[in-house]
Amino acid sequence: MKTAAPPAHSKILILDFGSQYTQVIARRIRECQVYSEIVRYDLDTDEIERRQPHGIILSGGPASVYDEHAPEIDPRIFSLGIPVLGICYGLMLMAKHLGGQVEFTGRREFGAGSLHVTNGSQLFDGLGDAIDVWNSHGDEVTALPAGFRTVARTENSNFAAIEHTEKKLYGLQFHPEVAHTPRGKEILQNFVFHICHCSMDWTMGSFIDEACARVREQVGREKVVLGLSGGVDSSVVAALLHKAIGDQLTCIFVNNGLLRENEAEVVQRVFGENFHIKLKYVDASERFLRLLKGVTDPEEKRKIIGGEFVKVFEHATEELLQEEHASGADKHAGYRFLAQGTLYPDVIESVAIGGNPASLIKSHHNVGGLPEKMHFELVEPVRQLFKDEVRQAGLQLGLPKEIVHRQPFPGPGLAVRILGEVTPERLRILRDADTIVISEMIASDWYYRVWQSFPVLLPVRSVGVMGDQRTYEYTIALRIVESQDGMTADWVRMPYELLARISNRISNEVKGVNRVCYDISSKPPSTIEWE
Ligand code: XMP
Repeated sequence: MKTAAPPAHSKILILDFGSQYTQVIARRIRECQVYSEIVRYDLDTDEIERRQPHGIILSGGPASVYDEHAPEIDPRIFSLGIPVLGICYGLMLMAKHLGGQVEFTGRREFGAGSLHVTNGSQLFDGLGDAIDVWNSHGDEVTALPAGFRTVARTENSNFAAIEHTEKKLYGLQFHPEVAHTPRGKEILQNFVFHICHCSMDWTMGSFIDEACARVREQVGREKVVLGLSGGVDSSVVAALLHKAIGDQLTCIFVNNGLLRENEAEVVQRVFGENFHIKLKYVDASERFLRLLKGVTDPEEKRKIIGGEFVKVFEHATEELLQEEHASGADKHAGYRFLAQGTLYPDVIESVAIGGNPASLIKSHHNVGGLPEKMHFELVEPVRQLFKDEVRQAGLQLGLPKEIVHRQPFPGPGLAVRILGEVTPERLRILRDADTIVISEMIASDWYYRVWQSFPVLLPVRSVGVMGDQRTYEYTIALRIVESQDGMTADWVRMPYELLARISNRISNEVKGVNRVCYDISSKPPSTIEWE
């Protein structure tokens, strides 16, 4: 059954000029329940018009408008009649193209500043006349383009905010999107609601309905297979697809023998028993452990695990087909579609300018990545969402908090937390220690406040004493980090009492361990995982 196309909703397009904050702008707008989408700065203006945004935001960027290879804008964008807000570099472009003057004055303004609102601009509705703002710019507007007026200034600049209300063009020299501009979200809200007249129609409920309609339209009556890892993304995709297409979805869960304690049981309970999702559970632990025997090199471990996963997954889909045929299903019915938990940050085409790291922010680990030769068509129902939105969707779909807010867990599992060879005995030690870490983190209310917290088993043995006995046992390194996206991280200054408790319990309860160390390295230069 085909469903009608989902209704159009309010939309803000963000043209990205390579700012490290572009994604933050998009999230701030979505937090106002308005859909926002990031596009490259050079997206064709006709295409921009065709997409009918309610407003356009030009992001900041590391270049100077006078650089030889500075990213340019098609000035037609300023006469589409669609409101435009230029932030920092976006403001400079606007001023330069519309006849103002932009100069590199050498007075680089960086960091906190105070903004004085001088004229009643709608942008600053309800904000009073002094606002703390955060600056990061080298160029500066030194003369206004015709028809513009200045609406706020800082100590260093008379043109910190400018506008041309008839043409609906607005510019800010500072960054309203960052946390250091505490009331910046209200400025963006003013733009989105008072100037662009958006409605608050980007809600999780409406997203889920639209996503379900899109999936139904894409797959028709065909079947879809999904590799369920137990992580947040694939779990939310499973719940969403189940809502959309019910039994047309089959999930495959591969136990590679490198999972945490009870992991396989939790996934089977939540998805099989609670959600009644068709779930094929494949216990391939022995195969993986056999292949990993004697392997100590981290990259080699990853390669083996990734390669074997593909084989096991392929085999499982073939088995599914045979089972279907045996039960008399249509001979031609197959699994044409493969669902994946691709997220929005993975699909944004990044703009790398002047060595900024945008292009590097990609998911660099994708062990579950299945090869193209499998000839599946992809179903990616959450590719519009940021991670926090995926979590909201998961809760709304009825997934438990223990799945929706769980910490990230690497595809190669405990193998990259056991330095040296992976053996059943070492897995047992690490699993036991891991269970203690998780339970203590949850009991003390710390689990959901950090990015990751886990033990690592080192191949180092040291002398200890237990009762009157001398011991010679393994060392556990405890890693607890905070992070926004896993790209950078810092170790968490945990209360000593909790560290002491975890350490005592591990040394006392985990056979084979007599020493626990706390890892106080940040990323960079260290990574989060040890391998
Ligand atoms: P690193 O160790 O590179 O980790 O600082 C950054 C984040 O990625 C996770 N990670 C992985 N995730 N497959 C995954 O699915 C992997 O091979 C992998 N290696 C690391 C890590 O847990 C952290 O959250």
